[in-house]
Amino acid sequence: MFGKIQVSDKIFWLGVNDRRKQLFENIWPLPEGVCYNSYFIVDDKTALIDTVDFCAGKSFLAVVEKYLNGKTLDYLIINHMELDHTGEVVNLLKKYPDVKIVGNASTKRIFESYFGVIANFLDVSKGETIDLGYHKLRFVMTPWVHWPETMMTYDATEKVLFAGDAFGTFGALNGGVFDDEIDVNVYEDEALRYYSNVVGKYSGMVQKAFAKLAGIDIKCICSTHGPIWRSNPQKIMDLYDKWSKYEADEGVVIVFASMYGNTEDVADYVGRKIAENGIKNIKIHDVSKTHISYLIRDIWKYKGVILGSCSYNSEMFPLMEHICREIVHFGIQNKKLGIFGTFSWNGGGVKNLNKFAEDIKWEQVADSVELKGIPSDADYGKCDALAIAMAQQVKDWQQ
Ligand code: FEO
Repeated sequence: MFGKIQVSDKIFWLGVNDRRKQLFENIWPLPEGVCYNSYFIVDDKTALIDTVDFCAGKSFLAVVEKYLNGKTLDYLIINHMELDHTGEVVNLLKKYPDVKIVGNASTKRIFESYFGVIANFLDVSKGETIDLGYHKLRFVMTPWVHWPETMMTYDATEKVLFAGDAFGTFGALNGGVFDDEIDVNVYEDEALRYYSNVVGKYSGMVQKAFAKLAGIDIKCICSTHGPIWRSNPQKIMDLYDKWSKYEADEGVVIVFASMYGNTEDVADYVGRKIAENGIKNIKIHDVSKTHISYLIRDIWKYKGVILGSCSYNSEMFPLMEHICREIVHFGIQNKKLGIFGTFSWNGGGVKNLNKFAEDIKWEQVADSVELKGIPSDADYGKCDALAIAMAQQVKDWQQ
């Protein structure tokens, strides 16, 4: 906790940093940590918006009590039921059993499946508002950003949007809480890793959420993860708009799977040729070394994707199969694709990458290249057409 952080006169940040957890959702690495943001409005009536992860909330209730300063807690607004935001709900209900829980029908259903029957529930899905006194709260239903019940709370008085997971990022808050206190560019890669790994599967619903937010005057965005965007909320909105439209940067990511280094040599050769043909942003990843969350992020980020796999028991390499499956699972769209691989003793790498290409329907920039054993210089030359076509098409592609 940082002490008292005021978003405005009567709106307080009640977030916590979590630098202990290794894996978000027990799958996504957190090298920079994460924060869980809860917000509190102290008006004639009081409202808490979301809570925090149970493993990070040891002082949470004490701070709530301090800010209440003898008042009762009137509303607990649940924008999102995922447990990184409802970890303190049980403790909160024990302490404030009369609090009214605010959400929608899906909130109630999911809440009761985790925490038991709600006695005091207010469904705000049909345009209901909550008048706290000075603050008038409205609610925007934004399902699937990131679970079916997700919604946003808009304070029409101060034009503050409490956005749930939307506009969030991985990364703890290192002193700075507001966007104008931070070089926000340092969060951009982690914001995209968060977006692509956690929310990106529902990009179509993110675009629907943007449509619902159109016309709402937003002066400040309070997400459940990452900084509060009070000076330039448009910055994070523009990034989320771009990512959810699958608009990508000029660049190529090469992901290779290699047992003994021959397929890796081909990846380096192709990367070099792409650079010689004018592409400056090139990332080459070893699928056996780099966590898949970074692969997904960079695939989301760049226009060009080249996958190269050795053959393994007549299939593609298992970890390459994993990333291919995840690409399909996340529904990543709008990429130029290149494929290469090595045959070993019976093939299988390129053959199965070609099947993936048929499924994903990205535009393949050139014929797949398959090389046998230790590739010769002449074999490497077969990759030139792939590299040149990728570089050219990525440069020419106006999305
Ligand atoms: Fe931060 Fe979907 O929970």
